[in-house]
Amino acid sequence: MMMPDAVPVLTIDGPSGSGKGTVARAAAERLGWHILDSGAIYRAVGHAAGAAGIDFGDAAAVARLARGIRLEFRDPGDGGDTRVIVDGVDATDAIRTETAGAAASAIAAWPEVRKALVDKQLAFRQPPGLVADGRDMGTVIFPHAPFKVFLTASPGERAERRYKQLKAKGLDVTLVSLLHEIEVRDARDASRTVAPLRPASDAVVIDTTGRTIAAVVDAVLALVHQA
Ligand code: C5P
Repeated sequence: MMMPDAVPVLTIDGPSGSGKGTVARAAAERLGWHILDSGAIYRAVGHAAGAAGIDFGDAAAVARLARGIRLEFRDPGDGGDTRVIVDGVDATDAIRTETAGAAASAIAAWPEVRKALVDKQLAFRQPPGLVADGRDMGTVIFPHAPFKVFLTASPGERAERRYKQLKAKGLDVTLVSLLHEIEVRDARDASRTVAPLRPASDAVVIDTTGRTIAAVVDAVLALVHQA
């Protein structure tokens, strides 16, 4: 059996709306590798903490919840979105709201919460390989990953992408409010003291502004195939 350390990992980090979720899913499918959507884990914890009435400022209480939370990622088998089951309840749609995103960003700033979630993320490293999507995949969780990518895009383009995604889901949002939320969230994610959003020193940075998903996926896969 392949040792976990020998299982190849492709890390895809970047800010919200950089296209990393879509690129990660496509890359995982083309490679036949597993996928870790680490943002969904933070969203699930933020959502569960909110539902339990826990104060996001109470790091110890959120960390306790994070340690005990039961998360399952289920492929619906019909090509649809992966279902995210939180403590036995399907929370797929609930964790995708802007409220859950803001909750995720707030609780993700606590070192003890991040620590509580490390093993859950490492467990995704299973043969034949893993595509790990997030903010600190290449810097903190899989620092020795052989393949690292950091995706960026202009704030305006990222807001527009989020707008289309959320509208397609029937959610009532405005472009201006999304742009504002993206800027606030970016500033917080980049300035926090633990695992701030930044490319790993050995990551390949790809600006996706004005590029198609297909072109970005090809560029990412070229890195893996070149090796
Ligand atoms: O990627 P997504 O928008 O789903 O992430 C939601 C929030 O979770 C981010 O804004 C960030 O604060 C947090 N997060 C994180 N580390 C990760 C993934 C997400 O801090 N690896």
